[in-house]
Amino acid sequence: MTTLIIGATGNVGRHLTASLARTELPVRALTRRPDAAGFPAGVQAVGGDLTDPESLRVALDGVDSVFLLWPFRSAEGAAPVIETIAKYARKVVYLSAFSVRDDVSPAENGVWGEIEDLIRRSGVDWTFLRAGGFATNTLGWAGQIRTGDVVRAPYAGAQRSLIHEADLAAVAVVALTEAGHTGQSYILTGPATVSQADQVRIIGETIGRPLRFEEQPPEEARAQMLAMWGNAEFVDRALAHWASIVTEPEPVVDTVEQLTGRPARTFADWAADHAADFRSTGDVAEAYVGALRRGALAETMPLLAPDMVRVAPLEGVAEVAGLEEIMANAQRLTADYEIHEVTADGPFLGDGAGEQFAVKFTFDQTHKPSGVRRSARKLTLYTVQGGRIVREEVAYVDAPSA
Ligand SMILES: NC(=O)c1ccc[n+]([C@@H]2O[C@H](COP(=O)([O-])OP(=O)(O)OC[C@H]3O[C@@H](n4cnc5c(N)ncnc54)[C@H](OP(=O)(O)O)[C@@H]3O)[C@@H](O)[C@H]2O)c1
Repeated sequence: MTTLIIGATGNVGRHLTASLARTELPVRALTRRPDAAGFPAGVQAVGGDLTDPESLRVALDGVDSVFLLWPFRSAEGAAPVIETIAKYARKVVYLSAFSVRDDVSPAENGVWGEIEDLIRRSGVDWTFLRAGGFATNTLGWAGQIRTGDVVRAPYAGAQRSLIHEADLAAVAVVALTEAGHTGQSYILTGPATVSQADQVRIIGETIGRPLRFEEQPPEEARAQMLAMWGNAEFVDRALAHWASIVTEPEPVVDTVEQLTGRPARTFADWAADHAADFRSTGDVAEAYVGALRRGALAETMPLLAPDMVRVAPLEGVAEVAGLEEIMANAQRLTADYEIHEVTADGPFLGDGAGEQFAVKFTFDQTHKPSGVRRSARKLTLYTVQGGRIVREEVAYVDAPSA
C-alpha cells in the first residue's frame, strides 16, 4: 500500500511526508534532487520530473495512492503525466484550489480546473483538496520584512482565509489513508479571515518589531508579478480576486476540523511557526539578548538552529556541534560555579544586512571548590542564518578558570 508523494519537498509535502513516515505505511517521496532532499528515516526518496512523464515510471512502480500537486501555472504537459499515474495508481489525492467551481467549464477554472478534469477522466479514484490561499504566500514579503519595517503590496484590506500548510497535509493524510473520500472535493480554509494589513501586523508582533503595510498601486504590482510568474492570465486572476475580497471576504469553512478532528491553525499560529523566516539578524540579536537578560532561557531555544556550532578553544573542546551537545557542555563548564549575576552588553551589530552580531557577557561567579568569587568577561560573536543562530565563537577576556 505504498503512497507516492509528488511535491514532497514543498510546503505541504514536507509535512505530509513526515506525517506519513510516522505511520506504518510505506512512503515514497518524489523530487528532482533525491540526494539533497533530506527526508525523514523510512521514506524512500525517488528521482523524477513532471516535465518528463517517462521519468515517473520508477517512482510509480508498485504504488497504490498518489498525492499530486501540479507546480506549474498552466496545465500544458499534464495529460501524459496523469495518464501515466493512472496506469499505476488506484487513487489520486490532488492539491487543487478553492477557486474551482463545479458549475463552470474546466477551462474557466484555470489550471486547477483543467487538472481536476484530466484526473476525473483518467479513471482513478480521486479526492480533490480545494485549498484556499496558503499562509506561505506571505513568505513573499520576507525579504522586505528582513530589510525594513514596511511591506509594500496591493490591497491592504483584502480579507483572506489563509490556511496553514500543516493543516493541508493533515487533511491529505486522512484522504490518503482512510476510506470514504473517493469522489469528494473538499474546500479547505483557515479558521478566520485576516486582512493583509493585519497579516503584516501579526508577523511584526511575532518577531517583536512593528511592521506597516503600504498600499502598492495594482498596476505596479502587476508588472512585478508578471516578471516573477510570467503568465498574464494567472496574474490578472489573482489581482482581480484580491480586489474583490476587500469588500467580499474569502469564505471560511470548518472542513479541516471536520476531517482531522482539530480546528484549523490560525494565521498567528502560522506566523509563530515561521518567525525564523522573517527575522533579520537584528531581530534575532535583540530577542536573544532580551531573553537572556530576563533569564528566560526557554525563549532562546527557537532562536538557535538545532545543528548550531559553538567554537570556544579555551574551554578545552575546540568545537561543539548540535544543541544537545552544547547544552551538556554548558552544564559541564558551570558545574563548579555558583553564578550570582550575568550582565549582557550589546547586541553589537555590523553594518547593513550582515549575518553577525556580538555580545559581551560579564559573569559574577564563585568557584565553588576554592570559594574564590570574581568577575569573568567573555565576548561572543554570533552568526545568524535563516532567522536562527548557527554559530557562536567565544573569545574570553578573562581566562575561563578560577
Ligand atoms: N499558494 C497557494 O495559495 C495555493 C492555493 C491553492 C493551491 N495551490 C497549489 O499548491 C501547490 C504548491 O504546493 P506547495 O506550496 O506545497 O509546493 P512548493 O513549496 O511550491 O513546492 C513545489 C514542489 O513541486 C516540486 N516540483 C516543482 N517542479 C517539479 C518538476 N518539474 N517535477 C517534479 N516535482 C517538481 C518541488 O520538488 P523538487 O524541487 O524537490 O523537485 C516541490 O516539492 C501548487 O500546485 C499550487 O497550485 C497553491
